[in-house]
Amino acid sequence: MKKQLLDKAFVAMNNAYAIYSNYHVGSCVLLKDGTTFLGANIENASFGATNCAERSAIYSAYSNGYRKEDIQALAIVSDGYRIAAPCGICRQVLSELIGQDTPIYLSNGKEELETTIAELLPMQFNEGDVKHD
Ligand code: THU
Repeated sequence: MKKQLLDKAFVAMNNAYAIYSNYHVGSCVLLKDGTTFLGANIENASFGATNCAERSAIYSAYSNGYRKEDIQALAIVSDGYRIAAPCGICRQVLSELIGQDTPIYLSNGKEELETTIAELLPMQFNEGDVKHD
């Protein structure tokens, strides 16, 4: 399962639009029903408008009606020298949109690592902080 998911994330990486950084990232969300959604980093001349690969993938799953409890695993891959750990914005987004203990597989084609959002983002600011009576 992990290998297939990472393979799909590498396919997505080939769709990266990364003409500024030349740093290509791909992601794949696996749903419990077997459906997968791909995402790639999509850059913009106004750099802040860039969307990271894992956000592209997770937003795609949500846009198609899936929710946190439907997600089985997430893969994020890059062509960098080191494994691409999700950026701060992506960690915040993932803390909202995937399960705390959902496996996140990271790879750069040379090394692999398995983690969770609970591990990547301790002391989260989340729904419980915003909602009040
Ligand atoms: N990038 C991602 O796609 N995911 C991350 O978590 C880290 C950064 C992208 C954004 C930008 O297109 C490029 O990598 C360099 O920052």
